[in-house]
Amino acid sequence: MFNNDLEVTLHKASADQLKPKPDQSNLGFGQFFTDHMFTMRWNRQEGWHDAAIEPYQAFALDPAAMVFHYGQAIFEGMKAYRGPDNQIFLFRPMDNFIRMNESAQRMCMPRFPLDRVLQALRALVYLDQDWVPRTPGATLYIRPTMIATEPALGLRAAENYLFFIICCPVGAYYSEGFAPTTIYVEGDYVRSVPGGVGNAKTSGNYAASLKAQSAAQAKGFTQVLWLDAVERRYIEEVGTSNIFFLIDGELITPPLEGSILPGITRDSVLQLARDWGYRVSERRLTIDEVIEAGEKGTLQESFGTGTAAVISPVGELFYQDERIRINNGTAGELSTRLFEELQAIQFGTREDPHKWRVRVG
Ligand code: COI
Repeated sequence: MFNNDLEVTLHKASADQLKPKPDQSNLGFGQFFTDHMFTMRWNRQEGWHDAAIEPYQAFALDPAAMVFHYGQAIFEGMKAYRGPDNQIFLFRPMDNFIRMNESAQRMCMPRFPLDRVLQALRALVYLDQDWVPRTPGATLYIRPTMIATEPALGLRAAENYLFFIICCPVGAYYSEGFAPTTIYVEGDYVRSVPGGVGNAKTSGNYAASLKAQSAAQAKGFTQVLWLDAVERRYIEEVGTSNIFFLIDGELITPPLEGSILPGITRDSVLQLARDWGYRVSERRLTIDEVIEAGEKGTLQESFGTGTAAVISPVGELFYQDERIRINNGTAGELSTRLFEELQAIQFGTREDPHKWRVRVG
């Protein structure tokens, strides 16, 4: 149920609640949190209510809160960027919120009023704007989240929810930065199944991926590449991003058929590559096709796309004891051009023909 009169109360942190800012040259990812957060609550009688921007603080939750037991939890990842003259921008925030409402629907959670929440996010980022990093390439990562809070153990959709947005200044997601990653093609574990929740940004998908990710990292790889659960041949996505291949001039990414995340960066890359005249295909492709292209010399580039990862070139794939080097282990021309163009649009230093930027304040 929507409450279109949702009022957002503002409780500013007092001077002694303000936190020291971290060293901007060593932010890492998701380790420091800003002074404020946005919260609102839902129940069937009142819909969304008690919306507030308030000091960042711990929650008190009942041990029986249903999120702990049955995992009704969804989230999003977006960023704020500091541009010229200290302007602050968001990138396609409405698309993230629309996707979050789709995740909510899939997980039997309540949808929320998009405009109101976007307004609240803008107010939150405006209030915490000093936290948006000034170091080149660093950003303010934004994590909208919704969890089931009703204390009850019967298995059903909860009747109470908490929605919150927290923010943290971040550097590059991978320690490699823009340097190419090495990716382990996962042949044993799967991330999602047809009819499952692979296209919802729900926390359980990430929990389910940890086993394979930590095994791959223990072997020295940056991440895993998931294959489909049925035939174990079709390429799906990487642990933290969607995946693209440039093969013989064709830019290919798997189609949105329910098992992969409909990435906002994925969509932006498709649009930019089409604008630039590339042959672009959203189609199924098998790991065998990628290996064959590697052997024939037509596998030109591969890169992951995501809010956290931005564009992360793949320098090497490892599949069934075989190593496939891509572009000699270096970032390719298209990956580099996409990275630069996207960042320039996001940071407000280049034109924004698709109106993706939203100014804060
Ligand atoms: C994002 O790219 O924003 C994500 O949510 C991925 C996350 C695993 C860091």
